[in-house]
Amino acid sequence: MRTSQPRTIYLKDYKVPPYLVDHVDLRFELFEEGTRVYNSMEIRRNPDADPGQPLELDGEGLELEGLTVNGLPLAPSDFEVTSGGLRIEKVSDAFTLGVVTWILPQDNTRLEGLYKSSGMFCTQCEAEGFRWITYFPDRPDIMARFRTRVEADKARYPILLSNGNDVDRGDLEDGRHFVTWEDPFPKPCYLFALVAGDLVEKRDRFKTQSGRDIDLRMYVEPRNAAKCDHALDSLKRAMRWDEQIYGREYDLDIFMIVAVDDFNMGAMENKGLNIFNSSCVLASADTATDAAFQRIEAIVAHEYFHNWSGNRVTCRDWFQLSLKEGFTVFRDSQFSSDMGSPTVKRIEDATLLRTAQFAEDSGPMAHPVRPDSYIEISNFYTLTVYEKGAEVVRMIHTLLGEADFRKGSDLYFERHDGQAVTTDDFVKAMEDASGRDLSQFRLWYQQAGTPVVDVTDHYDEQARTYTLTLSQHVPPTPGQSEKQPQHIPFAVGLIGERGADLPLKLEAGASDAPRNRVLELTGAEQTFVFHDVAERPVPSLLRGFSAPVKVRYPWSRDQLLFLMSHDSDGFNRWDAGQRLAVDVIQSMLGQPQEQTVDPRLVTAFRQLLSDTDLDLALVAKMLHLPSEAYLIELSDVADVQAIHSARTRVLNQLALELQDELLACYLRNREDGDYEPTPEAIARRSLKNTALGWLLHINEEEARLMALKQFESATNMTDQAGALRSLVNSDFEADRSKALDAFYERFSDDPQVVEQWFSIQAGSPRAGTLPAVEALLEHPAFDWKNPNKIRSVIGAFAGQNLANFHAEDCSGYRFLARHILALDSTNPQIAARLVAPLTRWRNYGEVYREGMRAALEQIQARPDLSKDVYEVVHKSLK
Ligand code: ARG
Ligand code: ZN
Repeated sequence: MRTSQPRTIYLKDYKVPPYLVDHVDLRFELFEEGTRVYNSMEIRRNPDADPGQPLELDGEGLELEGLTVNGLPLAPSDFEVTSGGLRIEKVSDAFTLGVVTWILPQDNTRLEGLYKSSGMFCTQCEAEGFRWITYFPDRPDIMARFRTRVEADKARYPILLSNGNDVDRGDLEDGRHFVTWEDPFPKPCYLFALVAGDLVEKRDRFKTQSGRDIDLRMYVEPRNAAKCDHALDSLKRAMRWDEQIYGREYDLDIFMIVAVDDFNMGAMENKGLNIFNSSCVLASADTATDAAFQRIEAIVAHEYFHNWSGNRVTCRDWFQLSLKEGFTVFRDSQFSSDMGSPTVKRIEDATLLRTAQFAEDSGPMAHPVRPDSYIEISNFYTLTVYEKGAEVVRMIHTLLGEADFRKGSDLYFERHDGQAVTTDDFVKAMEDASGRDLSQFRLWYQQAGTPVVDVTDHYDEQARTYTLTLSQHVPPTPGQSEKQPQHIPFAVGLIGERGADLPLKLEAGASDAPRNRVLELTGAEQTFVFHDVAERPVPSLLRGFSAPVKVRYPWSRDQLLFLMSHDSDGFNRWDAGQRLAVDVIQSMLGQPQEQTVDPRLVTAFRQLLSDTDLDLALVAKMLHLPSEAYLIELSDVADVQAIHSARTRVLNQLALELQDELLACYLRNREDGDYEPTPEAIARRSLKNTALGWLLHINEEEARLMALKQFESATNMTDQAGALRSLVNSDFEADRSKALDAFYERFSDDPQVVEQWFSIQAGSPRAGTLPAVEALLEHPAFDWKNPNKIRSVIGAFAGQNLANFHAEDCSGYRFLARHILALDSTNPQIAARLVAPLTRWRNYGEVYREGMRAALEQIQARPDLSKDVYEVVHKSLK
């Protein structure tokens, strides 16, 4: 057990800061044996705070070398170094505080604050990393202007970067040099960044809508020089899009992007100096898959969009994290949708939400989009805050409509520019600009849990009316047993016998009725009557996934088949296919091997594979059977092995019955020509590789030869990795190891590709993968200090390889617990993230449940766990 209980922070305890910092002057002396940080802060009393409070600064892992007030050293009796910081009892109303600290970036394995990653210095300060650099009031409502001078050895670190504009540079003694940076925009310290290294610079330009020239600079290690184009192109598209759609123009003269290999998250929006995980920014056709190209475009845009939604207007406190993250994820998803296929993007977002966020929302870590409390804020960079938060903003967009939403966003940026505000301020701006009352809607920020909407219907032939009755409830979550009904935009259509959308008249006789309507569900139960309905329709419910809710309606399989081929809403076409497949798989749970698949599912898939008029991108998505993770999320008590076996049997039978169609589909979509990550080409590659995977699944000899050929002649990583994955997941033992060796040999000097090589193996559902996964941890390319490697082996195994992770002998759980404990002392953020697969133990069958609980208890028993792991484990067992 942990010796002392870590403190819980509550939103209700928020108080304005007693002191403000107007200006920060930093000087970094970077050495191999440590870094000296000189920090001079102009501080004044906050007129809005209670007077007479002491000055308290945060600080962790710092060696204090000097402390002055207005240039005079402070006597040891005048201040106190506490466990988490520094306290000065008596200060005047305005003064300059000087702090000198000595830190050890080279030993920093937590990857927060200042650390070294393959020979370069870099920082990660969000959420509370700045306190590992110097003493400072480390909270986002302190916004200061920063001036930063970086000094280092010139040969080792020719590039020295920080936020803003470079205003001075020069040489120093002993082969050292310096660059001084000044950021004119006040910012919270979590947006501070510093980079020093031997990097190559890729330059580009962007002319803003008002005609200003922006210098775009991307910094990478020399070996990555050829992997920058896609990120820079994505950046320019994002900059243009933000001007066109939101009227937001970039505000500094320079915009910099840096790639680093060791990074806890995807990327960070530091003002003017975005720092990226290499895997989220570097790409070339022969090393990055289509998925990586798309991820990079989205993340580059996401970080860029933060310049307004996050930096110019930031969060008052970390409970408001979704203010910037929910809004920015919504913005990047609109952007991706505009750049590619809107239906596919919606399917991808909804899949992530329904699989992973719904699971989080019904587990022990469930929390509102705006949480009420936390122990460690790093644990709240969650799917709920990000993805559900984005859905909440999307619903505001749906309720207000495009034009009023834009007015609301303009008002928000204008009203709060330069401020640190709350999610409530955001909603208020939307209300004020549109005149709409969003008071009930605010519950989306306050109540945790996924609302369930039950739908019943009635068709009255005589009266020609069709009645939909919607009722909602939000299940209880930790700390919230009673919930109120929420404001749910529920988009519907009614489909007539011949497959056309019927007019939706909420009043009899109305003319020009729309065929798509957003019903607003606000009560616990509400009835909507449609008039002049000539025939019994099939309802198309929650079109476009208009709200992050679960819909229950007793569709028959025939109705789902009908929707699959007739719904004018692409998302719901896909969804009908998913529901049908879920129904078929669930009906086969625990059934004997010989149980055959409903022939209607086979027919539906045959049609998808053969109909060449269909939207390829949609077909590619529709061919993906619901994942095991989703099937687990849907079960009250999950029997993972039964789910895996039923799903595998369905896949096998479909593949056996559809061999000819799969083969034809593969051949039809095999394209030559230059690699392009366009939606059509991506869809074609996806279809082709799905077909190949299915064919190998049933040990098709012809498919084996096709896979080998594709593996040998592929000109892009999507096809290369697609062939490798198919072989690795197949029973062709000899081909599998040959292909793995050849792949490694060719790409061993490219970390991003090696990570794919790891995750293809760790994620392979073939029986008994665990020993192979343990062997990967011994591989020379594996590195316990590198989060991407940990994610690509341990993360891929526990998060995607569910049949092996949930082995009935519980070996997967023990494996995970052991490595969480080992990682907790080096990188607590990464360790805590790895606990997630164990947290929902109560939703599993007994063997699993007990094994997962035992693993959690084993972790909990360790004394002095980090706050990060402590919080997740403790809440899971509560
Ligand atoms: N703000 C970053 C983003 O979403 C993520 C930073 C997360 N950092 C952390 N320590 N959890 O773009
Ligand atoms: Zn973000």
